[in-house]
Parts: sequence; C-alpha cells; structure tokens
Amino acid sequence: MNYSHLTRGLLMSSAAAISMAGQVVAEGFPQETSLSGLEYELIGREDIYTYGALESYSEAPFLTELVATGALPPLADRLPAEPIIFKTGVMVDGVGEYGGVFRHVIGGRPEGWNWAAGQHQGWGGINMAIQECLVRQGPRWQIRGEDQSGPLPNLARSWTWNADATEVTMNLIEGAKWSDGDMFDTEDVRFWWEDNVQDANVTSRMAAGSFGGADTTMEVIDDFTFKFTFSSPQSETVLESLAYIQGCPGPSHVLKKSHPTYNSNSTYEAYTGALPADELSPVVLGAWVPVVHRPDELVVLRRNPFYFKVDESGQQLPYFNEMHFRLSTWGDRTTQTVAGTGDFSNMEDPANFVEALRQSQSDDSPVRAAFGPRVLGWRMDLNYDVNTAEDEYGQALRAIFRETDFRLGLSHALDRDAIGQAVARGPFAHPYTGGFQTGSPYFDAANTAYQEFDQDIANALFDGLGLIDTDGNGVRNLPGGEDIVLDVLSNANRGEDRKQLDAMASQLAEVGIRVQPRPIDETNFDTVEASGAFDAKFGRINFILPTFETCRSLPAGDACPIFNQSGDRMPFEQGIADAYEAFVSSDNPADKAEAAQTMQTLLTENAYSIGTVQFPAALLINKRIRNAHPGTPVFMYEWAEDAVIRERLWTAADQQEAELFPGTVAEY
Ligand code: GLA
Repeated sequence: MNYSHLTRGLLMSSAAAISMAGQVVAEGFPQETSLSGLEYELIGREDIYTYGALESYSEAPFLTELVATGALPPLADRLPAEPIIFKTGVMVDGVGEYGGVFRHVIGGRPEGWNWAAGQHQGWGGINMAIQECLVRQGPRWQIRGEDQSGPLPNLARSWTWNADATEVTMNLIEGAKWSDGDMFDTEDVRFWWEDNVQDANVTSRMAAGSFGGADTTMEVIDDFTFKFTFSSPQSETVLESLAYIQGCPGPSHVLKKSHPTYNSNSTYEAYTGALPADELSPVVLGAWVPVVHRPDELVVLRRNPFYFKVDESGQQLPYFNEMHFRLSTWGDRTTQTVAGTGDFSNMEDPANFVEALRQSQSDDSPVRAAFGPRVLGWRMDLNYDVNTAEDEYGQALRAIFRETDFRLGLSHALDRDAIGQAVARGPFAHPYTGGFQTGSPYFDAANTAYQEFDQDIANALFDGLGLIDTDGNGVRNLPGGEDIVLDVLSNANRGEDRKQLDAMASQLAEVGIRVQPRPIDETNFDTVEASGAFDAKFGRINFILPTFETCRSLPAGDACPIFNQSGDRMPFEQGIADAYEAFVSSDNPADKAEAAQTMQTLLTENAYSIGTVQFPAALLINKRIRNAHPGTPVFMYEWAEDAVIRERLWTAADQQEAELFPGTVAEY
C-alpha cells in the first residue's frame, strides 16, 4: 500500500502517555480512527510541469478570432519563450478540451483587488484564480517523500543558494505578461518587497521580518534575476512562504500610481483601496480575470489570454473559458455542490457532513466526495501583548493570559467531545489542544500534551493564581476586583465557529470565566485581526506546515504572532521562535522533525493556543470535471483550489455549462 503522509495521522497506534514534570495532567493524546481509505501513487517533483519551448502553440478558438480583429496580439507574442508546460502523463483524464464554466460558490465577499496591500478577494479560490506567486505549494501533496525538497517553482523558475545558504538567487520566468500585456519582471518583485512587505505603512500578507528573519534584504540583479540575502543560513523551507497570498506580486505598473512613494499626492489609505472590488478589471497574472462583480451575487472571471502556461500539445491553459464565484454562504457551497449546481466544495462545515455524505453516495449523485485527514482545527488565541492593551483592564487581563496555569485551566475546562458533538454528531470531531493538527506530517502524539476535561483541575489552577469570585456573582475576579470577561473576536459568517464558541462559553462559565462573543463580518475580520485590537479570538486555523501563514500561529519575526505583536515574548514562546528558526534553516529531515517536535511540545504543554476540536474535510467535485486527481486533499500544503490545479481541469464539450460572456476577455 502506498500511504503517504495524507493518512499518516490517522493510522497511529495508541498514543504514548506523556509525563511532564510540572504539568497537572498530561494524558496521552486520544487515539483516532480513520475516515479515509485513500490510496494514490506518489510522483516525482518534475512529473507535473516543467519549463520549455514547444514547436507550436494553439489557443482557445475565440482568442484566434480576437487576434484577427486586432483586439489581441498573436499568441506567440503573448506567451513567454519558455512557458510552463503541464505534462500529460500525470493528468488523470489527459489533455483537455477548451470551453465551459467552472462554478464556485463562496461565503466571502471581495474586499478589493489590491492583494499586494493585504486585501482579500473573498477567499474560496478567487485569490488563487487571479494571483500567481513566486513558488507553488498546492500540488506537493502528490509528490513522493524523497522529492519533497521545498516548494515547486512558479514565477521563480529556478534558484540557487550560495555555499553557506545565506543568499538565494532566483530566476524569474522570462516573458510572462500581465493580463493587460505588460511584462512581468523584477520591478514587480522589487515593488512587492520594498513597497509592500517592507513598508511599515502597508499591511501586506507577509509580515515584515517573518521571511528569514528581520534583516532579510532583496536586491535586483537584472530584469529577471534577483537575490535575497539572509543574516543567518536558511533552507528550501523558508521559500515555502513565497507561495499563496504571501509571495504573490501585484502589478507594479498599475499600483505605483497610487503608492505614496511614487505619488506624493496619494496616501497609504488611498493606496490600499486603489483597486476597489466594484472596479473591473484588475490586472492579474492568474489564469482568469474578474470581468463582472455583482455585489452579494456573483463574480465572473474570463480566461486570461496572456496566461503563461500550456499543455504538452501546446494548448494554452486554462481549459475553462469562464469561472464563476456565486456569492452566497460557505454552507451553501456544499449544498449547491451536492445538488450539482456548483462544481466544487471544500466540505468543511461539519454540520452538513452527514447529509452531504449520504447524498453523494448514490450512483446518480452529480458529485464525488472523498474525506481526507483532520486538517481543520479550531482554537482560541489569547492576546499576550500587554503593551497594546487599550486600558488597565485589558492590561490586567493580558497579564493573566501570560500565566501558564491560567491557560492550562482554560484548556482543562473544555469538554471537547461535547464541543465536537455540538457541531456535528458522529465520528468526525477529534479533540484538539493546539499545535500541529493530526493530519500534519509533523504531528506526533508522543509530543502532544493533552489537557483532559476536568473542572476540578481547572478550578484549582485558577484558585492557585488567586483568581477568586470575590463578589459572589459566579464570575472570578481579577486581582483588581473586576470580573474576568473574555471578549472573543469571531468570524460572523462561519456557523461552526459560533456553535463552538457558544459551547465553550457555557463550559467556561461553569468554572467562573465569562466569555463575551464579538462576531465580526468576514470581510473585515482580517483587518481587525491584523491590527491586534482584540483580547482573544476564536476561529479555524490550519496548522499543518509552520510556513503557511506563519504569523497567524508562530512567533516568527518581530511583529508575530498577530496575538503578540510587540515582541515581548514569554520564555517558552522564545523557545518556539527558536525551534521555528531551526526548522526553516535546515534541509535535514531529521533536524526538521526534531524542531517540529520541540514546537509541538512547547505549543501544547503551555497551551499557547486553546484548541477545541479538529475535523477532517471532504473534497466535493462534480463528476463532469476532468483531471481532478483522486485523493486531492482539501488542505495539505495549500488549499484544494491550488492542489487540484484548476488551470488543468476541463469538461467535455457536451457537458459544458453555457458561458455568460462567450467570445470576450477582460478589457483595459
Ligand atoms: C476559505 C474557505 C476554504 C478555502 C479557502 C481558500 O477559507 O473556507 O475552504 O476555500 O477559503 O482560500
């Protein structure tokens, strides 16, 4: 059998009991049972795509017509000399047919198109349809262990390290063009780095200092070559954070017009909002370009005629001419996909699991469903940053948060089985105490501290800190006399978050801690979160690879994590930071595993985050969609929208949905 890390977390034998001096209880991490029986062949790193020149190229027929009218330059002038070539050998259904619509349904709403300045596009895969990043992570789930030497190339086609691994020189693909025909080159990369990541006035998605340390510099060598210099040796792993939303340049030729460094009449606020969600079309490098946005209804994207990827027969990708994002709810994404009116869902809303599974089992169901390992974990993060608390009460609260016994008390007060059942009945939920989720290749039960449900222990820990209910109102008091009330930020658009937070609130009330949920609309959630203006927050965080959105989880870089931004670290927290450094600076698998285990131990025995439950997710894909590789995980190295390689998906002509805007591309 060829099980990869995909199932590793689920096949574990009985977890070893953990004993740690100083811990009140260190029970073995509960054993779990597998929900997935997936098996698939692993492949080599070079099997999926390469860079090169083919003898001839072809394009979607309607583009040839646009070339004839002069609306577009000929294909040869739109493609790089050596495009990315997707190989037929690993396409499960082979080379595709052009045309049709890929239908997404999402719960998010686009904030704006200026992703370089940190704006999101509503998630659910819009960002990954329009952004291209220096490297790529999603397809790595399919690659065999011995070939897992860091991220896959993308905009950066290759790179070389100096002897002591303090410099990496990256070579960009040459001749790739933005969707308006402008050349993509190192000026776009420099603008991304200097004027966004490194500009303290811009809240980019890559936290300053989180990429290889605070002193990392970038230098342009020529139009297609640049170099990062680090103050200490790094490894391939550090480059993983150049994927997804963190390492994806925006169009500098467009954005400079409103960036204060280049336009003294502009402001940073104006810069961030320079590409409003209702102004179409943004200039992108991705396979599809937004052409219509009807608020709360629909975003339509059309194929990008300048896309820099082809298949082995020379056909320019993508195969789908149009992509839809119906603006609905996350739960509706699953409902519509099961019903066949949507093509794709990361089924991650456990409340839908039983019904969706039942429906997708019948032979005439329009959808295929496959469960993966537990990669979705929910947790509460307490803000440890006393310096930025708004008032004395906030300062006192955050000082208490820094007490390990307080956090362990919260963790012991949670009945995680009950929380799981509140979200979905059945075998889906598993307890989660923070750290790597069981579906992570770095999860190891033996290094995972587990605080079992025990109100007596929780009460004893709180009492021991002198947090007594002095006024008899059922709520424990801070040393200054105020009630302990945790104002917990949460995402208002996620039903499963709210159910858990409510269950958690009633459980914590039983040990004298009050929880005050503060739901915030998803569109604004990230902005509030990034600002650090919360005492505590609750939500789903994927902690599978430490390099994925690192600043959400780990003390890497001066202003990280986002729940301790001014860098006043607790001693064990510094230990986590050191372990992270060790992890990203080594290419040796044994050293990395050891660093990951140190992280896991420190994260869980100190209850750095208060985890609740972890769930598996199932990927739902409409059966008419070809080339969706069986076993694609909802989340592993990246979300499924990237892992499934959408530019390579297709539908046979007789099964294609009618396009809303046939024959057209974005206009500038
Ligand atoms: C949201 C969804 C996920 C996934 C990501 C992609 O977070 O909940 O399932 O689609 O967007 O960015």
